[in-house]
Amino acid sequence: MSIANDSVFSHIVHAPEDPILGVTVAYNKDQSPVKLNLGVGAYRTEEGKPLVLNVVRKAERLLVDDNSRVKEYLPITGLADFNKLSAKLIFGANSPAVSENRVVTVQCLSGTGSLKVGASFLGRHYHQKIIYIPLPTWGNHPKVFTIAGLSVKSYRYYNPSTRGLDFQGLLEDLGNAPNGSIVLLHACAHNPTGVDPTPHQWDQIRQLMRAKALLPFFDSAYQGFASGSLDADADAVRKFVADGGECLAAQSYAKNMGLYGERVGALSIVCKSADVAPRVESQLKLVIRPMYSSPPIHGASIVATILKNEEMYREWTVELKAMADRIIRMRQQLFYALKDKGTPGDWSHIVKQIGMFTFTGLNSKQVEFMAKEYHIYMTSDGRISMAGLSSKTVPHLTEAIHAAVSNVA
Ligand SMILES: Cc1ncc(COP(=O)(O)O)c(C=O)c1O
Repeated sequence: MSIANDSVFSHIVHAPEDPILGVTVAYNKDQSPVKLNLGVGAYRTEEGKPLVLNVVRKAERLLVDDNSRVKEYLPITGLADFNKLSAKLIFGANSPAVSENRVVTVQCLSGTGSLKVGASFLGRHYHQKIIYIPLPTWGNHPKVFTIAGLSVKSYRYYNPSTRGLDFQGLLEDLGNAPNGSIVLLHACAHNPTGVDPTPHQWDQIRQLMRAKALLPFFDSAYQGFASGSLDADADAVRKFVADGGECLAAQSYAKNMGLYGERVGALSIVCKSADVAPRVESQLKLVIRPMYSSPPIHGASIVATILKNEEMYREWTVELKAMADRIIRMRQQLFYALKDKGTPGDWSHIVKQIGMFTFTGLNSKQVEFMAKEYHIYMTSDGRISMAGLSSKTVPHLTEAIHAAVSNVA
C-alpha cells in the first residue's frame, strides 16, 4: 500500500517569507556581480565583509586557553557576572537602582529573546495587557508581543512629510492611552526610521508617561552603535531610571559587539523597591525554564570577559566607535553624491537620521525597480542599511536612487 500523499501535514500552507530575511533570499538568488544587499541590519566592512571584532577574538582565545572552564549548564537566569555587567552597561556605573538591588537582570537569547521573555512575563503578571508600539517599528515587535497575549496598539512616531518625528502625534496618542499601558520605546537609533527624540523631547515623553503610569519597555539593540558613545546612547533609558520609576529594558550584543549569531542579550526589570526584585526574578525563572531551560554559555562569557577587563573594555569602545563612524561617513558620502548628481528631492534626512538605517522615503515600486534594474535589495518600506554600504558602492546606489525617483512615481 502506498503511503505517499497522505501526510498528516498535507493541509499546511506555505508561510510567507519574513519581510526582512526575505530580502536576503532574493539577493542570494540574484547572479549579478554588482548586486548589493542593503536589507539586513548587520555591519559590513569597507570591503563588504562581516566583521569579528579584535577584542572578541582576544576574549575567545582567553576562554579557549582557560582549562578551568567547563560547559556545564548555566543557571536559568544565565551567567551572573554577565548579568551584573550588562545592567551596569545600560543603567550606568553609578546607577542607584543597581546599587539599591532594585534591578533584576536575566541573560536571554539576544534582543529578540529578551523582548520575548519580558513580554511573556508582562502577559502573565502585569495588570494591563495593552502595549503601544511606535508606527512604524521593527517588524518583529507586534509578533513577539501578540504571541505573549498582549494587545498591540500603535502610537504615531514618524512623519513622512518631514521625514522626522511626529512629536505632537506621539504625545497625543500616549496621552490617550489607557492608564498603565505598556509602551515600547527604542532606546536609540529607532529602527526603521533612524529618527530619535531630542533629549528635551525624551523629558516630555517621560513626564507624560509617568503622569499616566505608562510602563516603559525599552528595546536597546544599538547601544554605542548610534553615536559611537555607549553612555550617550543609554541616556534616554537612564533618565527614566533616574526618576525612581519602573521600566523594562531588553539589551542586545548583536550589533555593538558583532555577536549576531551568538545570541547574547539581557532583560532587566527595574523595580521601585528591593523587596519586589527577588519575587520578579523568581517568576522570570518560571517563564524561562519551559521556554529554553537556560541560556547558552559561550557568547555571555565573551561579553563578560570584555566588560570586566578595563583594557579590553577600552579596546571595545574604540572598535565600536570605528563602526559607528564608518556608518556616519556612509551617510555623508551618499548625501553628497545625490546632491552632486542633482537627484530630485531633499536628501538631508540621510545625514540627520541616526544608527544603522536610513529611511529613504523611496516607495515600494521604486524599491522593486532598484532590485530589478540595479540589483540593489532593501526592505519594501525603503529602509536601507548604511552598514551594508561602502565608498565603492555609493556611486552605484546613487545611480539607482536617481533613476528610481526620476522614472518611477
Ligand atoms: C529594534 C530592534 N530590536 C531588536 C532587535 C533584535 O535583534 P537580535 O535578536 O539579533 O539581538 C533588532 C534587530 O535587528 C532591532 O532592530
